[in-house]
Amino acid sequence: MNDKQLVALHAAKYVKDGMLVGLGTGSTANYFIEELARLTREQGLRCVTIASSTISAQKAQSLQLPIVALEHVSSIDLYVDGADEITSDKTLLKGRGSDLVKEKLLAKAASQFIAVADASKLVSHIGQNFTIPIEVIPFAWQLTKKSLETLGGVGDLRPNPAKDGFWITSHGSYVLDMRFDKNLDASALNTLINNTPGVVEHGIFHQLTDLVLIAQDGVVSEH
Ligand code: A5P
Repeated sequence: MNDKQLVALHAAKYVKDGMLVGLGTGSTANYFIEELARLTREQGLRCVTIASSTISAQKAQSLQLPIVALEHVSSIDLYVDGADEITSDKTLLKGRGSDLVKEKLLAKAASQFIAVADASKLVSHIGQNFTIPIEVIPFAWQLTKKSLETLGGVGDLRPNPAKDGFWITSHGSYVLDMRFDKNLDASALNTLINNTPGVVEHGIFHQLTDLVLIAQDGVVSEH
């Protein structure tokens, strides 16, 4: 069993009968979805799920997990998702995919948000290994990019995989992948980006995570 699978199985121990459980997106979240399905099938666990992306919804459906749509709920019990970077104060960088709008909504709505990862995701500061993904309203991208540049941001629109157009998120936004001065801490950056017109959402998850589970060399630790 690899570390991503191990940490996902550990997170599944937090799921109790009757919970509404948010499903994250990515390979670690996939292991969590598979474990929920196994617990439902083999141990009679009863829970309802809500997905952060179409791909996770499809996976949950294919495993016969009960699923509800985001627009039908106002709170959830538990959300479990991976991350691209994690700092010691439990700030996350997410959104390498196309789904950070729903991911952040679920993280905020959950009574408990558990981030699950292997140790490769631990960083000393947000932006260490990845650019900050910033979803922008397509017609505003130039004005928003300019505003972000005045904050010290450097970057550009994310291209699509074929590089013949721009990346479009699940919600029809463009993504600016930006680097900022590493001395600008994630809390300040979170506020500055939140206050920038044209931004739909961004990948810094600050003060949203209740618990971080890290697996390293076959051992899970809680933070
Ligand atoms: C999805 O948008 C991201 O936020 C993922 O949660 C992140 O990329 C983690 O993916 P892995 O679990 O595959 O590393």
